[in-house]
Amino acid sequence: MSMACSYLQWRSSATNRRTPQTAHNPNSFGPQRQVINHVPTPQPIFQFIAFGLIIFLAFLQFLPATHFRDPSDPFRNWVPVQSNPSLRASSDENSSGGENELLHIVSWMDCLDLRLLAVLANSTLSASRYPDLVRFHFFIPKGDEDKVSFFKLKVLFPHSNLEIHGQEEVKEVIRTAFSGINHSIFNYEEIAPFVIPSVHQFLSKFTYLSPNVIVKGRVEELIGVDLSSYAIAVAEDCCNRLNSYVNWDVLDAIQRSASKPWVSETIYAKNSCMLDLSVLLIDARKLENDFLEAFLWWSKVLNLSERSRGRNPATALALYNRYLKLSSSWLVKKSTSVLVTDSLIVLYDGPKTVCSEFGDGAALQTEHGNFWMEYLPPMSDRILGS
Ligand SMILES: *[C@@H]1O[C@H](CO)[C@@H](O)[C@H](O)[C@H]1NC(C)=O
Ligand SMILES: *[C@@H]1O[C@H](CO)[C@@H](O)[C@H](O)[C@H]1NC(C)=O
Ligand SMILES: *[C@@H]1O[C@H](CO)[C@@H](O)[C@H](O)[C@H]1NC(C)=O
Ligand SMILES: *[C@@H]1O[C@H](CO)[C@@H](O)[C@H](O)[C@H]1NC(C)=O
Repeated sequence: MSMACSYLQWRSSATNRRTPQTAHNPNSFGPQRQVINHVPTPQPIFQFIAFGLIIFLAFLQFLPATHFRDPSDPFRNWVPVQSNPSLRASSDENSSGGENELLHIVSWMDCLDLRLLAVLANSTLSASRYPDLVRFHFFIPKGDEDKVSFFKLKVLFPHSNLEIHGQEEVKEVIRTAFSGINHSIFNYEEIAPFVIPSVHQFLSKFTYLSPNVIVKGRVEELIGVDLSSYAIAVAEDCCNRLNSYVNWDVLDAIQRSASKPWVSETIYAKNSCMLDLSVLLIDARKLENDFLEAFLWWSKVLNLSERSRGRNPATALALYNRYLKLSSSWLVKKSTSVLVTDSLIVLYDGPKTVCSEFGDGAALQTEHGNFWMEYLPPMSDRILGS
């Protein structure tokens, strides 16, 4: 390809160099003029071949590129073009967080607020040792139709590997499963992480991060956690116990009488902790496909028609005994907490848009801290225009 370009260039500069010579010569001495006149005319066949060669080289440019060079590579090595980027991720059958694997980060946002996504992306990239391997998948209301949001993030993080997805396909799966059920028993954000891999199958092993967090830890260490036979790893929030969200007598009765694969065979531990769903490690290949069903079943039997106190115990019950416990350093802490120095993940403490009843954003300036500003200086904030 580049050969064809340089060949044409060289040829045209060569003819340019020759023309002034002939242009000057008519006014000079006769003998020389004669010499020029006697330059043998090339055989038509060679002209024809040369012309054919040029056309051939020109057409070579239309072939698809097979190799490229990364401008940031100091050695400018030629790298074969990967025709299907997701192939690379899913072909790693035995993934254990190897260094040349992509680190997929998934996040879901019910009402768009770019500030949170920018802080999430920047903190993750800043803390990672392999930012080049991090690939973000942000699920936002308008999806990839929302070019403006995509380009704003791209302006801030030009080298990032960032994809924007829509939410409709995932919501459709959830709505179908819950048809006829009053939707006020759940919000999409808490269920979506478990449904996303069934819709986007290239996501085999990934980390789900709530848009509400600032990452201080290395995300590659999280993805490298050995799940053994579990499909999910999640940190326990033991400041909130399950028994303050469910009626324990009812739960005992259910445990004794119901035989469902998601009901524990042994008595539920009274001091079970709630789960912090802000950080999840998910291996979709081991995920049993009954999460939605289990979640729905628990919501029904426990009469969780109104989401009291903001947390739904149905998730904790649907996952009971079915997760690997993540180290408590991956439990989200407030930026004002005394424990924050040892924490690998901090609750976003900036201003944010809160979802209204109808799914559109209603700006709400709450009191906030300034940890978020480290990852979104005023200049960057202005680019987001929020
Ligand atoms: C990965 O798979 C290959 C063969 O497919 C095997 O030889 C290798 O031991 C596996 N590695 C790990 C870490 O499981
Ligand atoms: C659930 O609520 C219905 C009414 O909304 C009530 O009749 C029923 O007894 C409740 N069940 C439990 C287990 O609390
Ligand atoms: C859903 O439940 C809420 C209260 O829990 C109620 O206000 C609303 O009318 C219900 N919606 C439907 C469609 O039943
Ligand atoms: C990302 O965060 C770093 C601090 O960790 C900051 O210096 C940098 O300006 C931020 N980048 C953007 C694009 O805001």
